[in-house]
Amino acid sequence: MSADRITTARLAAMKQRGERIACLTCYDAAFCRLLEAADVDVLLVGDSLGNVLQGQATTVRVTLDHMVYHSACVSRVSERALIIADLPFLSYATPERAIDAAARLMGEGGAAMVKLEGGAEVVDTVRLLTRFGAPVCAHLGLLPQSVHQLGGYRYQGRDEAGAAAIRADALALQQAGASLLVLECVPAELAEALSGELRIPVIGIGAGKDCDGQVLVLHDMLGLLPGRSPRFSKDFLTGAGSVRDALAAYVNAVRDGTFPGPEHTLA
Ligand code: KIV
Repeated sequence: MSADRITTARLAAMKQRGERIACLTCYDAAFCRLLEAADVDVLLVGDSLGNVLQGQATTVRVTLDHMVYHSACVSRVSERALIIADLPFLSYATPERAIDAAARLMGEGGAAMVKLEGGAEVVDTVRLLTRFGAPVCAHLGLLPQSVHQLGGYRYQGRDEAGAAAIRADALALQQAGASLLVLECVPAELAEALSGELRIPVIGIGAGKDCDGQVLVLHDMLGLLPGRSPRFSKDFLTGAGSVRDALAAYVNAVRDGTFPGPEHTLA
């Protein structure tokens, strides 16, 4: 591994130093090169590729083969960023399936970490994956793979019980060995408290500015998708001279704490 490569240890050190982590989704080689040139620290090969690239209404129809293919497209040309690949819907419903799926994402796909959604129900799987050397990014708050059960894309953890459940899950996932936590669509106050309490970096999306880092869906932050983009996102391309400038503006805004602003945040 090159000495320049971003590792989980480097992300943990960035948290310690109070340096914010810039993360974006990435699904192909062309954007991988652009994102790395803009100094993005973490590239998430998200199953949001189902919505963004495949035109699906949800991420549920994304398969492990799709994820392996896109992870390989990114990792083939990556020189610096940490690459995280999503374990797709139900591919980690049993420990055996999770091990096989992670082996493919890391072996064939070249990812350095896998991400899975959920709390207490995935703690044993996180323990197993990390024990066998597969780093894990946990994902709490709004869980897009559970949209059919949740009944829609809504903010989570808004009442005391919901917030307490997310906190308990986060602590259990850290204890089980997760190296990172993505916190999606939760009140800013809860995300700030968890970022302070957890040892591992917390990467927010729709979770306010006081996380250890931020992630957005690439095509949202470039304003490439038709219709209204999520409230927590920002179109960085409008007003920028080029895609390169838009990506640089995002990285700067994450690093200096000016993104997300109050208009992107649920108090
Ligand atoms: O798949 C994805 O892009 C994600 C982000 C929304 C965090 O999980």
